Amino acid sequence: MTAAWNPERARAIIDTHRGLRGALLPILHALQDEFGYVDPAATPLLAGALNLSQADVHGVIGFYHEFRHSHPGRHVVKVCVAEACQARGAESLVEYLQTKLGIGLGGTTGDGEFTLEAVYCLGNCALGPAAQVDGRLLGRLSPARMDEVLA
Ligand code: FES
Repeated sequence: MTAAWNPERARAIIDTHRGLRGALLPILHALQDEFGYVDPAATPLLAGALNLSQADVHGVIGFYHEFRHSHPGRHVVKVCVAEACQARGAESLVEYLQTKLGIGLGGTTGDGEFTLEAVYCLGNCALGPAAQVDGRLLGRLSPARMDEVLA
């Protein structure tokens, strides 16, 4: 369960990590862990704290696709689309999930129940297609197995 966006809490997280070398990425991860996404309002806070331009911060957030820009659904489904999983049918699994949930990759269902995301290798290559559902690693997934998991 993630907290609602809170600028005071965000400032505290930034202050905790700002002394680290290459602090921006660890801070972005910490903010996403706390709030479930990186709120656009974090950009000026980060720029000020790390002496960067807002454009630089914005560019980094946009470059790394693991950072979300809005609050995720209650359940986050991350499907591996890297090579080994693709060779084992990840593409058709993604298509199945997009149709079933009625959303594209990076989307969240209208009821806020599911967010669907692509990831690039979960370290479960021998058991592809692989996915992570709410942090739980799953392998050898088929549409039927996915239905069971999502139910
Ligand atoms: S390629 Fe999918 S888990 Fe490694």
